Amino acid sequence: MCGIVGYTGPREAGPILIEGLGRLEYRGYDSAGIALVDEEGALFVEKKAGKLVNLQAAIADRTPHASLGVAHTRWATHGRPNDLNAHPHQDCTGEITVVHNGIIENFRELRDELEARGHALRSETDTEALAHLVEDAYQGDLSAAVREALGRVEGAYALVVMHRGERSRLIGARHNVPLVVGLNGEESFLASDVAAILAHTDKVVFLQEGDIADVRPTGVTITSLTGEPLDRPVSTIDWTPEAAEKGGHATFMEKEIHEQPEALAQSLAGRVSPAGGVAAPELDEMADTFRRVTRVELVACGTAYYAAMVGAAALQEWTGLPSRVTVGSEFRYSPPPVDTNTLVVAVTQSGETADTIAPTRWAREQGCPIVAITNTVGSAITREADAVMFLQAGPEIAVAASKTFVTQVTTLVTLAATIAKARGAMAEAAELELGAALRHLPEAAARTLELAAHVPAMAQRYAGSRGFMFIGRGYSFPAALEGALKLKEVSYIHAEGYAAGELKHGPISLLDAECPLVAVATRSRVYDKLMSNVMEGRARDARVIAVATEGDEAIGRFADEVVFVPPTHEALSPVLAVIPLQLFAYHTALARGNDVDQPRNLAKSVTVE
Ligand code: G6P
Repeated sequence: MCGIVGYTGPREAGPILIEGLGRLEYRGYDSAGIALVDEEGALFVEKKAGKLVNLQAAIADRTPHASLGVAHTRWATHGRPNDLNAHPHQDCTGEITVVHNGIIENFRELRDELEARGHALRSETDTEALAHLVEDAYQGDLSAAVREALGRVEGAYALVVMHRGERSRLIGARHNVPLVVGLNGEESFLASDVAAILAHTDKVVFLQEGDIADVRPTGVTITSLTGEPLDRPVSTIDWTPEAAEKGGHATFMEKEIHEQPEALAQSLAGRVSPAGGVAAPELDEMADTFRRVTRVELVACGTAYYAAMVGAAALQEWTGLPSRVTVGSEFRYSPPPVDTNTLVVAVTQSGETADTIAPTRWAREQGCPIVAITNTVGSAITREADAVMFLQAGPEIAVAASKTFVTQVTTLVTLAATIAKARGAMAEAAELELGAALRHLPEAAARTLELAAHVPAMAQRYAGSRGFMFIGRGYSFPAALEGALKLKEVSYIHAEGYAAGELKHGPISLLDAECPLVAVATRSRVYDKLMSNVMEGRARDARVIAVATEGDEAIGRFADEVVFVPPTHEALSPVLAVIPLQLFAYHTALARGNDVDQPRNLAKSVTVE
């Protein structure tokens, strides 16, 4: 998964493209490249392995004046991350330039066939084959050539193609990988997502599967792969460009952790009434479906998977329906038995995760009703669903998810309550208790951030640990898993998340003075059981860091370090408990000198299997 941006219009393309790439680096950052067609029609290409700064340095004093160009930030799938394999790629003649995000699955056959026909391919990438296919198909109309070339291609792609001789035209194409067109009067853009172009325009067209966009400075024409004209609405995006900036924080991750109270408030808007009623209006049409379903299968990956664990627990507890969550890559090839009475809930921040989309699509084909929970308007998952609940959390730029975890949890809890109510399974008192807790949650999250003021110093003290063991029970178990994942992702220290009762069945052997035990010990029905597990760890010399509920005076006897969080509804406890764990991971990573926003080997949105 990579980031793409293209520009055609009267302004200097170079700086616009480089700035756009900066906003897309979270999609992948092992190399970056730019191609510009200058005023004389000459092609300028520069590509550099490593982060965007390397490319910026390489073009600093020699960027040509150009009003047409494309740029790309790469996360390698085929071919090592070096200068040669960086995008853009050209055909044999140098007339055609392609940038691509996705995987061309039949690229080996295509490359062999192209080479047999005399084409000279220079890189090891799947993408370069596309440039040569377009070269073969080109007869004066780039759009027609791209359509013909794509007829040969199997796989997933978002791509932008330009021709040196067609000096104000970009062709974009989308199939299972995101691409948006930005429109701004006399200039137009193509980009992997709106963050790249929001500084210039808030008018965008979300391309859909199989769309080909013929982009000129003054507008866009969209057709299908076979050339039929298509109507796509122009959306106005209400994210300000500032919302995608760091807003005074050192990093996006820090900013996003601190904006969780606001993200929660935005996310809950319209879902909890002042009187405490909980309802998601976007699910109104699903009421009959919710009454007839006999079980719920959730599907998600990474952080979304841990949020979905909370959702599955709440669904099962409140609706009585068997509910479970499976990671997308397992669901896809070992699917659970489903029928038309199985509700499938897909949870994905980006809405573009291939491992989540494929099983959801499969379930839809089996006739399952589908609810998607995503942060991304216009994303692929929204087209697979009967109803969509948006997180409304605003753009999340740091690779490690924070505000989207907490809003996923609240959105899933809202879904669980809505289903329980539709089935007559939730008493009014229980609904009002949940509603009151949800309404109070943004304030409680703000208080949690205040209570965690000592976490940076604590992280400094523990940053040299060999490893960490995170434990929780019930609703605090997913919080423990997410805390361990955050720490792994950004600090590169090994961390395990375990159901606390399992500690004694194996992983306890890892504990010693160099491997602290992090216990998510918020008040719950299983608090005492969890404390027994903490004592087992302490007896093995492990230092104990506890996340506990304010007012828990006994916890000091069990733990070396305590971070308090305010009391809340048990099903919402992971929302608050995870906040100090996010901060702990963040400050441990800083103490170790890591790049927190772009941790090594990771990408924000994984659109390949
Ligand atoms: C990637 C990211 C994770 C994320 C996962 C699922 O692996 O690095 O942070 O949790 O994808 O992403 P999604 O967009 O589907 O929630």
